Amino acid sequence: MFISREAKLLYSNSNNNINFEQFNFYNYSRDAIYDILSQYNINQNSEIIVPNYICNTVVDTINVFTNNVKFYTINEKLKFDLDEIKSILNENTKMIFFVDYFGVETSVNEKLIKFLKSKNILILKDSAHSFLTLMKNDFRTSYKYDFLVSSIYKAVPLYAGAVSLGNIRSRVNFINNNIIQKRKIINKMKQVFCFFGISIFNRDIEKLSIINDNYTFESGTNGYDEYKNKLSSIDFKNIIINRDQLSLDFYRYLEEYSIFTKDEIIKSSLQVFPIWCSSKANRDEILKIMKQECVDAFTWATFNKLSINEYLWSHIILLPLDKKVLTIMKEKIKNV
Ligand SMILES: Cc1ncc(COP(=O)(O)O)c(C=O)c1O
Repeated sequence: MFISREAKLLYSNSNNNINFEQFNFYNYSRDAIYDILSQYNINQNSEIIVPNYICNTVVDTINVFTNNVKFYTINEKLKFDLDEIKSILNENTKMIFFVDYFGVETSVNEKLIKFLKSKNILILKDSAHSFLTLMKNDFRTSYKYDFLVSSIYKAVPLYAGAVSLGNIRSRVNFINNNIIQKRKIINKMKQVFCFFGISIFNRDIEKLSIINDNYTFESGTNGYDEYKNKLSSIDFKNIIINRDQLSLDFYRYLEEYSIFTKDEIIKSSLQVFPIWCSSKANRDEILKIMKQECVDAFTWATFNKLSINEYLWSHIILLPLDKKVLTIMKEKIKNV
């Protein structure tokens, strides 16, 4: 396999010796967020601050505890404005979410952390998209917040699984077998649809060295240890190398439209490759072609009343990191 200079550098930095004992485990990141909100007594009097480019799952989970949610702006480069954040806090603000978009870690500087701490505002780093990036950086540089949550199943096809760091107890602390079975069935159905060419889903997105299909727990058992064993056996180095190589290939071709800089891409392990489309019509045209080609390109967050940053939603498209997608971009897409 050809590995570029940049990818080699990443390889030498990546470490597979993560000690999973330090984590709480959950089926999904939303379970972790739920536990954090309930254990820190978030209620209708508490205000929670979140970015205005966010998936409903997060807001829905917060709404179980409080409807008092305030949004701060995310710009075209998926960054926030420090002064805006400072200006919207008040005495009821109890927690703020910072989101790592699509694998790139959102940097929250020490000054802001100190400022938020001085106001007794808890910081939750939502790293749901950046599990591979955290693995690459050993979680060390990433965990300087009150809480960090990350979804494993978004990074590797394990059907379920998320972790958290911070002073919390996991209510579940196991991976529910029923959830895994359900997702397995959905995945099989996707493959069948794909086979008949009616797919709206990606096919074989990455040749990962993981086999899910013998992955069952006896029903009713606590799958926690089995899951951790499974996780320890995954060749994360290899996955990260392939991903990072592909990300750089995408960047070379799509530099002009890339939301992230080369430097950000090199420091991260992207979940998908986000590009900026000049118009909603172009975005929709790309989505249409990808769908015809059986590729699951998508917009994020799915549009509805909660994903209120319509400007970002209508210009950003997320491309799965697959060679085939790059070929389609080169051969079939006229305008981005
Ligand atoms: C930024 C972000 N945070 C949290 C979540 C929730 O993750 P999970 O599906 O693991 O509950 C999602 C996705 O739904 C997300 O996009």
